[in-house]
Amino acid sequence: MAIVIDQKEKLFTLHTAHTTYQMKADRLGTLLHLYYGRRTDDSDKSYILSYRDRGFSGNPYEVGKEIKTYSLDVLPQEYSCYGTGDYRISGLKVQNEDGSQAAALHYREYRMEKGKYAIPGLPAVYADEEEAQTLEVILEDVVSGVEVHLLYGVLEARDIITRAVKIKNRGAGKIILQKAASMNLDWTSGEFEWITFYGRHVMERNVQRSRLVHGVQSVGSVRGTSSHHYNPFAILCEKNADEEKGACYGFSFLYSGEFLMETEKDQCSQTRLICGIHPDNFAWELQPGAEFDAPEVMMTYSEKGFGGISRNLHKTIRNHICRGEWKEKRRPVLINNWEATYFHFTGEKLVSIAKEAAALGVELFVLDDGWFGKRDDDNSGLGDWFPNEKKLGCSLKELAEKIIACGMQFGLWFEPECISEDSDLYRSHPDWAVTVPGRRPSLSRNQLILDFSREEVQNYMIDRMSAIFAETRISYVKWDFNRSICDKFSYGLDAERQGEFAHRFVLGLYRVLETLTTRFPHILFEGCSGGGGRFDAGMLYYTPQIWCSDNTDAIARLKIQYGTSFGYPVSAMGSHVSAVPNHQTRRVTPLATRGYVAMAGTFGYELDVTRMPEEEKEQVRKQIKQFRKYYHLIQYGEYYRLLSPLEGQCTAWEMEDPEGREALITAVYHDVEGNSAPVIVKVQGLKREAFYQAKLNPDDMEGWSEQEKECFLEGLPYGYKEGEKITGAALQDCGLAIPDVMDAFQAWQIHIVEV
Ligand code: DGJ
Repeated sequence: MAIVIDQKEKLFTLHTAHTTYQMKADRLGTLLHLYYGRRTDDSDKSYILSYRDRGFSGNPYEVGKEIKTYSLDVLPQEYSCYGTGDYRISGLKVQNEDGSQAAALHYREYRMEKGKYAIPGLPAVYADEEEAQTLEVILEDVVSGVEVHLLYGVLEARDIITRAVKIKNRGAGKIILQKAASMNLDWTSGEFEWITFYGRHVMERNVQRSRLVHGVQSVGSVRGTSSHHYNPFAILCEKNADEEKGACYGFSFLYSGEFLMETEKDQCSQTRLICGIHPDNFAWELQPGAEFDAPEVMMTYSEKGFGGISRNLHKTIRNHICRGEWKEKRRPVLINNWEATYFHFTGEKLVSIAKEAAALGVELFVLDDGWFGKRDDDNSGLGDWFPNEKKLGCSLKELAEKIIACGMQFGLWFEPECISEDSDLYRSHPDWAVTVPGRRPSLSRNQLILDFSREEVQNYMIDRMSAIFAETRISYVKWDFNRSICDKFSYGLDAERQGEFAHRFVLGLYRVLETLTTRFPHILFEGCSGGGGRFDAGMLYYTPQIWCSDNTDAIARLKIQYGTSFGYPVSAMGSHVSAVPNHQTRRVTPLATRGYVAMAGTFGYELDVTRMPEEEKEQVRKQIKQFRKYYHLIQYGEYYRLLSPLEGQCTAWEMEDPEGREALITAVYHDVEGNSAPVIVKVQGLKREAFYQAKLNPDDMEGWSEQEKECFLEGLPYGYKEGEKITGAALQDCGLAIPDVMDAFQAWQIHIVEV
């Protein structure tokens, strides 16, 4: 049983294959958190709690004189409240009708059911009755009538526990939620560090590891989206944890808007972590009888280091978050015209790229920004989702048919949540733009936000996009969003409800995405927000892949994709081969390296193939074959980070068949040192007793002279020679030497097969 309940003791124990989580309602009705970690027994862990007096940590009136050292300020809780004696960061902050800001939650009852709960209008992990169980624990504040339903989804085999919260106003007066976090987790002991992912446009998800010190530390976004700047995913770990070992907790927020992930190390060196919607732009009114759903957080625990956390999350995202036809189907190799033409193209030029790319084996042509309205630069046109037939030289439908006739599928770019001042849509609906009355709005990329919190705007966009999808054979949509939101105000909301705008915007986005993906299940949607500005598990519920970054430089991408891989699978990371010198960094890298880095993602091209020399075209043909050959490992394999791009000279990763029969290792020299020591990787997974052979991709030596080849092969490390067999144990323990670097930014792909 995944969920074990001792009704008398009000003790709840949740088990997954390797983890246990426990909580208990005490005699006062406080729901105490007792344990989350390695799988253990169901016995009551409340013996561990200390009730030592802590000065200035007050005591609830009800405990009386008898246990006057009882304090909410130090006890570990499942969902903490602001205003009634817990001075730490809290999960819930309510403003009552009388203006007071207090809530005290006490246990009332629980419910349990088979399967995994869903959340209306919000993304959530899904699983069937065989795979998951749900526990709902109901707490109430008897004074205000606030009812809090704590939801726990237990995916036993995946080592995943999800949390979400429903808040109901059962009282007679209106309340305002000023903070409604999705989870609260307390540890009574332990010295922790946490890993968070910071960044900026064109350099997302850099890894930062810091010690949790006394006080509050946080990451979050107030930009309307989850943002390039901090990702709504974090790992909390023991001091000695590393890639392969050590106790780690992973927290991934399924939400694409403003979030706050905060930790506090308190006076007793206890740690609290809270995650939820950012309270800065949040005030949600609940009239009597109304309810509010806080989005979901997915949690996992592993003693196999960061790698263990990543692999648990990768599988859960692939199998229990991504949905629809594209969850299982092989994603097409695509070519996108953005870096090839930017805004300056004709229909003829697009068809010529498509034709050339089709001949190389590319399967999908994506027409990016600039095909609609008056849009030859980023000053105008957003909102006018009507094809510019003059520019295309034909109707969009005709263009799509021409491209399809080349043997390609056709895909199209949209930026539905934005509007240009210079657009017909703005001229006819100026109030649909997000601006504060009486103030000039802040522009970003010369554009404004379209108010997706309003139902009529959502419906307009659903109808407009549906009409295009119905009349044109479209197989793919790139859903972009190229600015952060400020000047938060909606002409569709009353003054008292303006604090709901930011969350309502996200709910509106989710509604539009849900409607379109349901209506057009054959379309593959790729998320994007100026690259990876909205790369979160919430978006992956609607779009199974997201353009990882506007930085397409292979070497910069090593860091971006490395950071992203901590929380998200390769199958979710949009990654393309682009031209050199790279448009963002001016760096020149070999085509092979660009190919391998893009293969650690959904794989595609973003350059003008019509201008490629014949040798490069031949290389592209081979890359596409290689990608297809290893697709099962790349998209569905167990992912291991072997060498970090932040150290040394070589970055390496491995994609392993879960049965241990084969593995694909990719190694990229991101730096070169003179007379350097050999680079060794310890191969992960595989069967210890089995024998393997390591094979280099012969294409990696393409273009070399016979002499160079001979010299290289002579010095090739033991293990690659034809007929040499190495045991899985040796590959794991002793490792495999990566061949030397022969060229700047050289990359190697090594296939390890059981023999
Ligand atoms: C930002 C995206 O990330 C790019 O790939 C491209 O689609 C541009 N927007 C188009 O405006």
